[in-house]
Amino acid sequence: MLIRHSRASDVLSSEITPHSVLLNRREVLRAAAATGAIAGLSPFMLSNTAVAASQKLPNVIKTKWTEHALGKDDKLTPYDDVTSYNNFYEFGTGKGDPARNAHTLKPKPWTVVVDGHVEKPGHYDFDDLIRGHDLEERVYRFRCVEAWSMVIPWVGVPLVKIIKRLGATSNAKYVAFETLADIEQMPGQRFATLKWPYREGLRMDEAMNPLTLMAVGLYGKVIPNQNGAPIRLVTPWKYGFKSIKSIVRISFTEEMPPTSWNMSAPREYGFYSNVNPLVHHPRWSQAKERRLGGPTNIFGFTPKRPTLMFNGYEEEVANMYHGMDLKRNY
Ligand code: MTE
Repeated sequence: MLIRHSRASDVLSSEITPHSVLLNRREVLRAAAATGAIAGLSPFMLSNTAVAASQKLPNVIKTKWTEHALGKDDKLTPYDDVTSYNNFYEFGTGKGDPARNAHTLKPKPWTVVVDGHVEKPGHYDFDDLIRGHDLEERVYRFRCVEAWSMVIPWVGVPLVKIIKRLGATSNAKYVAFETLADIEQMPGQRFATLKWPYREGLRMDEAMNPLTLMAVGLYGKVIPNQNGAPIRLVTPWKYGFKSIKSIVRISFTEEMPPTSWNMSAPREYGFYSNVNPLVHHPRWSQAKERRLGGPTNIFGFTPKRPTLMFNGYEEEVANMYHGMDLKRNY
């Protein structure tokens, strides 16, 4: 993002980190799981990191947001691409860094602080925050501001359900999120790449939109550390940087909360960050994108495709922005 000076839209599939090393590790973990040593436990009761991340989540409900609801060219991005080509600056700024380095993150035990204008503030154990809610599978397009995209089968709980149970009050106009701040677990925080902790926010109606998901898994399995374990936000009509990872605080506020990329480069990253092919990033066009793991041409290269307004979710979200100048509110 900010620190990339080459044309970010020119991401080639050849830049994706080789998977051989990761695959070897996964094979070992799969074998460990097959021994039954970790069978019978809830995935969220497992101790840590990669073993938990290879665990299948129980009772995942299929929803109308299936693969079939997407366009005919929207094929699922392979698991290995989703989990090895990441942005998670707390673990380094290279796309392969999070998969290599995020083993230091300990997603269990995990506490989420809920505060601000809410009836039930408190320190919630992660399990308690999602307990009793169905885990839903939602296949969403994911569009990074750097002009690469994916199609990901997330597993999670709609944020609206969590908010209703916590009881946001009428003073709550926005929801603010914060990632963990811990240099031991997140060594990239030794560097002032961003002002830590990573922060994001949504307007209340955006947070309550049925599309907005708190993801705890992908591909039916516990979410890997590099994708934001144990809980991260997913707002598919917004650029990927809104999808804050490894959340430890949810605050209900009256004022629009500060957000990391907006604080870092306000001219480039606004609060709304809606995918909009008509509004260019000051340093590159947002009209097209390259789908990771997408179909290749005769040169073995994935051509760019047009980016859709609101990333293709216009029907579900456009009404929230009626009358707003989307060039000013980018
Ligand atoms: N959350 C935190 N805490 N730190 C980050 O650096 N990067 C953001 C977002 N959430 C980021 C983050 C950006 S720029 C993107 S594109 C997405 O995570 C990438 O999500 P993925 O790695 O699961 O594809």
